[in-house]
Parts: sequence; structure tokens; C-alpha cells
Amino acid sequence: MDRNDDRYDLLVVGSANADLVVEVERRPGPGETVSGSDLAVHPGGKGGNQAVAAARLGARTALLARVGDDAHGRLLLDAQRAAGVSVEAVRTGGAPTGVALITVDPSGDNSIVVSPGANALLTPADVRAAARLVRAAAVVSAQLEIPVATVVETVRVRDGAGRFVLNPSPAGPVPTEVLAACDPLVVNEHEARVLLGHGAGDSPGERALALLALGPRSVVITLGAAGAVTADGRTGVVARIAAVPVTAVDTTGAGDAFTAALAWRLGRGDELPTAAGYAARVGAAAVTRKGAQESYPTAAELPPG
Ligand code: RIB
Repeated sequence: MDRNDDRYDLLVVGSANADLVVEVERRPGPGETVSGSDLAVHPGGKGGNQAVAAARLGARTALLARVGDDAHGRLLLDAQRAAGVSVEAVRTGGAPTGVALITVDPSGDNSIVVSPGANALLTPADVRAAARLVRAAAVVSAQLEIPVATVVETVRVRDGAGRFVLNPSPAGPVPTEVLAACDPLVVNEHEARVLLGHGAGDSPGERALALLALGPRSVVITLGAAGAVTADGRTGVVARIAAVPVTAVDTTGAGDAFTAALAWRLGRGDELPTAAGYAARVGAAAVTRKGAQESYPTAAELPPG
């Protein structure tokens, strides 16, 4: 259901992919072929995932994305609408819907190859066309499965209004003006290493402080089963967020659920460590079920913190 009210709790600017998932006993090495399960097709994409995760928790959420005029695009739009996400800003056409080829092993770990398709055509002009929503949302979040120029334009159109959250995934360079807007920058350990290069510290806390020195207002490093670390540039406080113990079935999209929950709770006024503690419970719940969007919990389904 679309809403006419511009004041979304969270506007997600990002990708939407059809996830083509095969379960394997082990992921293949170079030159190797392995057999897997029957193919499953799920709605995914880091942007679409964040939007569904937040909406399922109760956030008023909109998605700015681009899908193809095809069956995958319709699947993704249906999934967003079913979760209660506004798709008024989703553009259609120009290229086939993005696709992610995903293998999941028995430990729940995954490998993903993305074919961007229509995601590569989400342009700065699309952001300008949605300027009303971009400026009015309490929080805007983005990732890097869309062109970096589109993320830059999001920050420019936003112009310091409200809060901007970035998960730079897939890992890659982030322009200085985007880093400076991040509050927080949310990374996993791999993404932290890519951003820090040889300047990475010895501990997660040191790496969080090293990331802060790159310019973001705050930083969150997710540590998988070991929880997370937060660092706030205003206070200098570094906090360790405890892991929530669960048995992992499929980790696909758990990071997206974490970031969405974090962004929403920050927009509601939570302090960074409090929001990250809540997000850790959401991410933990997400790994206990298969798929990305299908695995996301409602607030009532969260494990205790
Ligand atoms: O973060 C998980 C997501 O990454 C998947 O849903 C896939 O579409 C890729 O974008």
C-alpha cells in the first residue's frame, strides 16, 4: 500500500535483486563443479532487504530502487508491498531486474555473485526526482549495489537533513563527502579491511576508531557471531555489543536486517549502542531461517537481548 505522507521513518536507496539460491554441501573451488539442491527464487537485494526488514519491525518505510519490467521485477514489488513498504519511488524498466546467484553451505554461510541489471540504471536523476521523499525521511540508508554517483547524489539532495546510514557493500571505495555524511557507517570485518587497507588496527575497537578517522560521524562494525562494536565520534565512546546466541541456518541478508533495524531505531532516538543491541537481536533472528526477506522477524519474534 502506498502512502501520500512524505514522512517515512526510513527511506532505503538501494538495490533490488531476485536471489537465485542453491544449497550445496560445500562451495566449489576454481575450476570445480558441484551439485546442489533444487533452485529457489527469493526476493532480495541489499536495498529491498533493508526496506522489508524495517517494515516488518513496524517502521514506515519506502524504497527508492529500479527493477526491470519482467517477472523478477514483479516478484520484488509484490514482496515489498506485502511487507508494507511504499514502492511509490521504485522505477521500472531499462534493463532486466538485478539477479544474485547465491550458494549456501550447511553452516549457513553464503557466496554471492550479483548481476546488477536495472540497479546499475538507478541514476542521480532518479534521486533528484524523489527529492521530496529523500529530504523528508527521518533516516535515509544506502548501500553500494547501485552506482556510487547515485549515493553521492542522495547525500547532496539530503543536504544534512535527518540521518544518513551507509553499508558500503559490496566493499569498495567510498567518496569523502559520503563518508562525512555517514551516521553511522556500518561495515562487516571484510568491508572494514577494504576501507582501512594496511591501516587496520589490531582489535575491532581499534578498527572502529580508525574508521572514524576517515570522516564518518559514527561507526558500527558487525562481527557475525561475536556481536558488534560501535564508535561514536561525538562522544569518543567505543562500545562492545554482545552477540545473541542462535543456531545459524542461512546468513543471507542478516547484515541488511541488522542495518535496517539500526537505522530505524536511531531515527526513533535510541543511542547508538542501544540501537545496535536491538539490531543484533534482529540479525540473530534472521539467520535462523532460510532466505533473506522471508527470514526477517517481526518485533514480537525477536530473541531476548
Ligand atoms: O545481503 C544479501 C543480498 O545481497 C542478497 O539478497 C542478494 O540479492 C545480494 O544483494
